[in-house]
Amino acid sequence: MSLKKILGIESSCDDSSVAIINSNHEVESMFSANQIKQHIVFKGVVPEIASRTHTKNLLKLVELCLKETKSSLSEMDGIAVTSKPGLVGSLMVGTTTAKTLALANNIPLLGVNHLEGHMLAPFLKDNISKPKQPLSFPFLALIVSGGHSHIYFVKSLNDYHLIGKTLDDAAGEALDKFAQLLGLAFPGGAELDKLASNIDPLRFPLPKPLWKEKSANLSFSGIKSAGSRLVAQFNEKELLKNKKYLAASYQKAIVDSLVQKLKWAQQETQLTHIVVSGGVSANSLLRLELNQWCVNKKLKLSVPALKYCTDNAAMIALVGYLKMKEGLFSNQYLSPVSS
Ligand code: KG4
Ligand code: ZN
Repeated sequence: MSLKKILGIESSCDDSSVAIINSNHEVESMFSANQIKQHIVFKGVVPEIASRTHTKNLLKLVELCLKETKSSLSEMDGIAVTSKPGLVGSLMVGTTTAKTLALANNIPLLGVNHLEGHMLAPFLKDNISKPKQPLSFPFLALIVSGGHSHIYFVKSLNDYHLIGKTLDDAAGEALDKFAQLLGLAFPGGAELDKLASNIDPLRFPLPKPLWKEKSANLSFSGIKSAGSRLVAQFNEKELLKNKKYLAASYQKAIVDSLVQKLKWAQQETQLTHIVVSGGVSANSLLRLELNQWCVNKKLKLSVPALKYCTDNAAMIALVGYLKMKEGLFSNQYLSPVSS
């Protein structure tokens, strides 16, 4: 089936995003609206506010993409929308928008798994970003974000297996919570990354959860509790003095855990192509450690361009394009699924 342009819609959590990609995996246009301002006072995402804000954002973002590419909806060969997993209200807004546009304009529709989107994000192209590796299967994928820390064996587009995951919190959540304790702005992962830059990460030792366990499972609750106990032992003045060392030690503990389990999974599977994606894959220490490991072991490493690490519609459009090319479509009964 010949598909030239796919419109992607993402609204699984608190980012509203719309993109148009072409058959060359190139992002022709992408507009996103984050909702940090709406949620910052609550220090976390409020599902009802997220859904309402998506209803205000999505159609405007569709218009912006069409205007930038000088195209009309009728020129779209497919609409791909995140249908799972995520906040069900937020997903409902995205899927309803996509179904309505598809029905009104007679365009094929496909519901996409958000995690499959993250898996393929490193292979998106645009004027500035060129992937280091072409899209090829199989690969080992670590999806690491505010809601996920999952390791998959990805055999092909529709065939992948979970081989390990966090038993408690996600890495992004653990980073955000600690950043909050240090008084950094929400969501704190990127702020923590900046604060920890070029700082000795060994000043405060933290636990190494499941380090010796022969599995690809992860756990961050122990690091989180130890981190909060460390912060609690300082008064305000001492905390200010130690803030950057705390940030660096905490970030190192999380990153080392992720890399250690990825190494274990690589040894078990013997896969030579490693994909790391999701919001936390923007982390500079994680990228550095992954790079060193992959160069040493002669492994291929694919990480997304920074703008495609966090939630975005281009990755959803790419999955949509590849699956629709294989003849996979949804109908108007497409419903959001939270997990
Ligand atoms: O993939 P994403 O946008 O949303 C979810 O699906 O959760 O990931 C958001 C997460 C947040 O926890 C955020 O703090 C984290 O990604 N993050 C980072 C960095 N940039 C974003 N964590 C560490 N270092 C960064 N540079
Ligand atoms: Zn995500």
